[in-house]
Parts: sequence; structure tokens; C-alpha cells
Amino acid sequence: MGRAAERLRVLTDQARSGDWSGAAADLRRWIRSDTVSAQMRRDFSVPFEPKPAEVALTAVPLDDDLARKLFDVDVSPQDRVYLERRRSFWETGFDGGFVAVTDDGDPAYLQWLIPNRQHDLVTDYFGPLFPDLGPDGLVVEGAWVPPAYRKKKVMGEGLSLVSEAAAAHFGAASATCFPEAGNKGAVRGSQAGGYVIEGRRIDSWRLARRSVHFEACTAADLGY
Ligand SMILES: CC(C)(COP(=O)(O)OP(=O)(O)OC[C@H]1O[C@@H](n2cnc3c(N)ncnc32)[C@H](O)[C@@H]1OP(=O)(O)O)[C@@H](O)C(=O)NCCC(=O)NCCS
Repeated sequence: MGRAAERLRVLTDQARSGDWSGAAADLRRWIRSDTVSAQMRRDFSVPFEPKPAEVALTAVPLDDDLARKLFDVDVSPQDRVYLERRRSFWETGFDGGFVAVTDDGDPAYLQWLIPNRQHDLVTDYFGPLFPDLGPDGLVVEGAWVPPAYRKKKVMGEGLSLVSEAAAAHFGAASATCFPEAGNKGAVRGSQAGGYVIEGRRIDSWRLARRSVHFEACTAADLGY
């Protein structure tokens, strides 16, 4: 199916299921939008010590049992949108799902650090949003803190722990994430996890035509 036909199908499905606000938001985005994300990188050759979270955390790979605990829960409609997207990453088969769990085995932080061998799958799924980072680079996507663990400084230590676990597992030299520039929790949390702003990505739509470009900039340019 061509991209325009695929977009029309998504819109029709949304309208049929009564999701008019989702359909309207997508339509507005495709007609004209510019989404700016911070391009942030952690270089694993640079030692980094995060501030401790308010709960003790350990990094483990995402598995079926943790996936059930993370995804099959009651959350607000806004969080349900975030959570279903992450369930879809899991069901699509992306490698590099990691979780920071508490001493009781409760999942407190979820993140994918996807190895370069899945670059084609990344491009099929997300479109042209992620550059090829080379064999040593990991694409960081899908941060999620369950509502019960938010505002407890979980993201900094959680992201740092899962990043180091993924780097050791895949033999990676660096990892790169692209939080939306306006998502202060995600950008500050990524900084707290050892990631440094190196540039920005601008994802533009004009009448259903998409262009994505990357440019160098400083943290101050993005207001951080
Ligand atoms: C974004 C998210 C992961 C952050 O988790 P969190 O538990 O709220 O964040 P933390 O308590 O660890 O805080 C991380 C940092 O962001 C800051 N922060 C958090 N929310 C903030 C906000 N709304 N405005 C400004 N700063 C904020 C904290 O002060 C902290 O900074 P510091 O370590 O320099 O003091 C979480 O809110 C979430 O899962 N949101 C829904 C999904 C999402 O947006 N994912 C990111 C997509 S890239």
C-alpha cells in the first residue's frame, strides 16, 4: 500500500472507531506541522554517574511477564495512547527492550535501545525519523515511567542503567535519543541519564508530504 493510501486507511479506521479527535489531530499534522526534537547522545567511553532515584533500581531485559505488568494496567486515556504505542513496539519485535525494576521486581522504567542490525525495521516502522547510527550506535525510543513512579527521579538513573546494560549486551559505543523538545520531563530526564544535546530533528509535513532534517545546535538553542 502506498503511503498516501496507508494514511487514508488510518484516518478511516479512526473515524469508524469514533476516534474523531485522533483523526483530527493526525489530519492537522499531515496538512501542516513541524515537530522539533532534541538529538541527544550518550557516549559510553565517558564515565557517567547518575543521581540515585528515590527507589532502588536494577536493569533487566523486557520479557513477557514484565510486558504484561507494564501494559495490562488501568491508566488515563493520554497514558493509554503512550502505552499502546509501546505495546506495539514489543509486538513488532524490536530488540533492546529493557526495564529498570524495583527490589520487588516491579517495573519502574521502560526503554528500548535498538541495535543497528534492525535499522531497516526502524525505518519501516517510524519512517525516516532515525539516521543510520552505524554498527556501534543504539536508537533509544519509547521511554515510559508508570504513573506510580513518576516524579521520583526514576528517569535519570533508570535510563542510565538500561543504557549501560544495552551497551554491554550489544557491544555499543553510543546511544542516541530524540525526545520532543517541548517534553521537558523527557529532555531533562535524558540529560539526567547522561545524554547530551548535540542537535535537533525537524519532522515537517506539508499536505501529506513529509521531510525530516537534522541540524547541529546547542542545549541553549532549545531552551535547556
Ligand atoms: C517523560 C517521563 C519518562 C519522565 O519521567 P518522570 O518520572 O516524570 O521524570 P523524573 O522524575 O525522573 O524527572 C526527570 C527530570 O525531568 C524533570 N521534569 C519532570 N517533569 C517535568 C516537567 N513537566 N517540566 C519540567 N521538568 C520536568 C525533573 O525535575 C527531572 O530533572 P532533574 O533530574 O534535572 O531534576 C514520564 O513522565 C513519562 O513516562 N511520560 C509519558 C511518556 C513520555 O512522555 N515518554 C517520553 C517520550 S520520548
